[in-house]
Amino acid sequence: MEIRTYRSEDRDQLVALWDTVFPNSTGHNEPNGAIERKVLAADSLFFVAADAGTIAGAVIAGYDGHRGWLYSLAVTPGNRRQGLGTRLVRHVEASLERLGCPKLNLQVRAENAEVVAFYESLGFATSAVLSFLEQRVRVLP
Ligand SMILES: CC(C)(COP(=O)(O)OP(=O)(O)OC[C@H]1O[C@@H](n2cnc3c(N)ncnc32)[C@H](O)[C@@H]1OP(=O)(O)O)[C@@H](O)C(=O)NCCC(=O)NCCS
Repeated sequence: MEIRTYRSEDRDQLVALWDTVFPNSTGHNEPNGAIERKVLAADSLFFVAADAGTIAGAVIAGYDGHRGWLYSLAVTPGNRRQGLGTRLVRHVEASLERLGCPKLNLQVRAENAEVVAFYESLGFATSAVLSFLEQRVRVLP
């Protein structure tokens, strides 16, 4: 299993993966729009785990010069508990470190106990901050 940057030919499989793992995603999480915007960002922080052209996992990362973020980590149900989620996170950490990124944040839904357990197993810890969300609706071009 290779972890590499996203390519345009991965698109259909990635949309299928996200539709399975994050069903009914709308707004900024709608898969096609999310892929398009990340590709336009052109920062090479968009990774898939692939085996001979078959996508088994994916993750988005970001770095704005202040801190790094990790988003939408997903492994296909049939490939879980084999260390692939861990490899994807470690790949993001190494990529951000190479860019000089000093800190990595991520958010998970508070009720998602399994994913909390996953990140804790990797050495992440929760921090007592409130996450704010702008309430105006953005009209995307
Ligand atoms: C979270 C996710 C990416 C983990 O992927 P994975 O490839 O199964 O993870 P790993 O095999 O690297 O797991 C490493 C460790 O994390 C912990 N862990 C993983 N899944 C777990 C679960 N469902 N419950 C409890 N602990 C879990 C275990 O300690 C595991 O080690 P072990 O298998 O030796 O016990 C995967 O379950 C997934 O895609 N979930 C749905 C998507 C999601 O909610 N993503 C988060 C949004 S950012």
